[in-house]
Order: sequence, then structure tokens, then C-alpha cells
Amino acid sequence: MSWESNVRKVVPYVPGEQPKAANIIKLNTNENPYPPAPGVKEAMERYTERSQELRLYPSPTVENLVKDLAEYYKLAEEQIFVGVGSDDVLATAFLTFFHSDKPVLFPDITYSFYEVWAQLYDVPYVKKPLDEDFNIVKEDYLGGKNGGVVITNPNAPTGIARSREWVEDIIRANSDCVVIVDEAYVDFGGESCLPLIEKYDNVLVVHTFSKSRSLAGLRVGVGMGSKKLIQYLNDVKFSINSYTINRPTLEYASLSLKDEPYFRKCVDQICATREWTMEELRKLDFTMTDSKTNFVFAKHKDVPAEELFEMLKQKGVYVRYFKAPRINEYLRITIGTDEEMQVLIKELELYLKNKNV
Ligand SMILES: Cc1ncc(COP(=O)(O)O)c(C=O)c1O
Repeated sequence: MSWESNVRKVVPYVPGEQPKAANIIKLNTNENPYPPAPGVKEAMERYTERSQELRLYPSPTVENLVKDLAEYYKLAEEQIFVGVGSDDVLATAFLTFFHSDKPVLFPDITYSFYEVWAQLYDVPYVKKPLDEDFNIVKEDYLGGKNGGVVITNPNAPTGIARSREWVEDIIRANSDCVVIVDEAYVDFGGESCLPLIEKYDNVLVVHTFSKSRSLAGLRVGVGMGSKKLIQYLNDVKFSINSYTINRPTLEYASLSLKDEPYFRKCVDQICATREWTMEELRKLDFTMTDSKTNFVFAKHKDVPAEELFEMLKQKGVYVRYFKAPRINEYLRITIGTDEEMQVLIKELELYLKNKNV
């Protein structure tokens, strides 16, 4: 018998392309076009003198960063869990909280990693279809008797946001399981469910430093919930890898939290560029969902999304195209700088004009 028959076989998540070529415009993985807070760069420069510290393990409890996060979010330190990006927080949460025979529910069109974790950890799950306009159908989640619920708010790749009250109805109906609210994009115009963690002990709100804080390369994510919930998460984390966040990262993440004016400025600029981009795309006969994120989800009246995706790639503009049912007519375009979005619009305009559509 081959050793391969004993292997755990999974279908992995496929991340967006990270092209190597210089001078491309990268609008395909929802990164932030602006640099991290200036304090991060200064600290990185200073860190070279302290490189001997790297012989020591980092803090397993990441207490300094947890303290700064607690201060920032006005929570107790025991309400905070830190992971290697929110992917790590979410994967640990799936492993910790979804341990039931009943299915975990999430939308059919949402962050596609959820399905990968459910399969990896043998978690039963049901994907609930979004409605025709890509809205999450709240009633699908209100039946109780679930093994867990995952709501992405604002949702991805649709960008559509729901109010805290709307999510609370789902939480209220699911007191027998954990509800994860993935708020990766909430800083770009959503309403956070964070206040609900004081009211419901079964809610985990997940944030990331990758989008609004321009630190995708650092890998920092945060899970926030009741003390009991966070303790369970830490028990699982400490059963896999105690030292998840490296020494310099702990400091850089804290510094990013301490520059609120810079954070606000970048987020406001991205929101303004998003509104401009949407307006220009509308003029070119695109329709879009109402995005409250740092990306838009756009479909052209006549020209297939795949054709536009390939054309833009040829021109050095990378956007995201999902060859999947229901969304294969759409492009997901990350909001870059004004200049980058002007190039995108110019290339689309030229192509559509030449095609006479
Ligand atoms: C909805 C959603 N959640 C979580 C993540 C993971 O982000 P990270 O692991 O960089 O924090 C992403 C990344 O694109 C996302 O779109």
C-alpha cells in the first residue's frame, strides 16, 4: 500500500497572483497602495542595530501588542487574540469553535477560504446562496440548530455592507454556536459589530492589519470576543505553535496603531478614490454593487469580464477575475492610488472605444 493513501488530501485556497514584473499596477489582492505609518519605517531602520535579539523567541502571549490593541479598541486584554494575519485567526477559530455534527453556515459567495478550512478540519458546512443582487439572505441564518455561522461584513468579493443591527439578528438566533464576523474591510465604510462582543459571549469579530493599515506583508490579524471565547482560541493556538508573531512584527504592529491621523488619512483617500472610480466605471457602462470596501465589483454591459481581465493584464494592470458560477461576469478591482485608477480607466476607455461598444 502506498504511503499516499494515508495522506490528508485537500483542495487548497488559491491566492491572487503576486506578479514579479516591475511597473505593473497591482489591483488584484486588495492591498493598500499607501505605505504603512511612517513610525513603522523608522522602527524598521532602528531594528537593524538590535538584530541580536532575534536569537530569542518572541513573547508567546504577545502581551505588549495585546495591551496596545486593548487600549485602541477599549477592551480588556483577555478579549484579544492575535494571529499571523486574519487567515490565521480564522483558521484557528474554525478549528476551535466548529466541532459539531451540525453544519456551519456561510454564504455561497464570500471569502473562499472558509470552505477550504471547513474541508481541512472535516467541519460539516452549508453554503447559503446570496440573492440575485448579491445580498446575504438573513432569514437563511435564523433557524438555530447550526454548528456555527460565518458572516463577512462588508462581504467579499461583493463589497456590500450590512448594519450592526442586521448582523445582531443573526447572532441572537444562534446562541448555541459561535458566530464569526469577519470585518477585514470594515474600516472602509462598514459598521463594526465589535460592541456586540460585550453583549454576546459567542461572537468573534475578526480584523486585519493587511488592508486599512497597509501591512499585508507583516501578517497580523486580530480576533476579539468574550474572555471565555478568547481563552478557547489561545488553548488551540498553544497546542499548535506558541510563537506565532515574530519579534519585530510585534513592535511594528503597535506603532501602526499609534498613528491614528495617518490611518484616517489613508482610509479617507481610498474611499474618495473608490467613489471617483465608480463614477468613471459607470460612464463606461459598468454596473457595480454598492462597495463599502477598498475594492469594487464591476460588470460591463457587453464585454465579458474575462476578456477585460486578460486585456488589462496585457497592459500591466492586474485585477481579480473569479472563474466561478454567478460571479464570472464580474471583475474585482482593488482601489489603488488616483494615478493607478486613472490608468485603469484610460485602458478600459480605449479598449471599449476600439471595440465600438
Ligand atoms: C474577507 C477576508 N477575510 C480575511 C482575509 C485575510 O486577510 P489577512 O490574512 O491578510 O489578514 C481576506 C484577504 O483578502 C479577506 O478578503
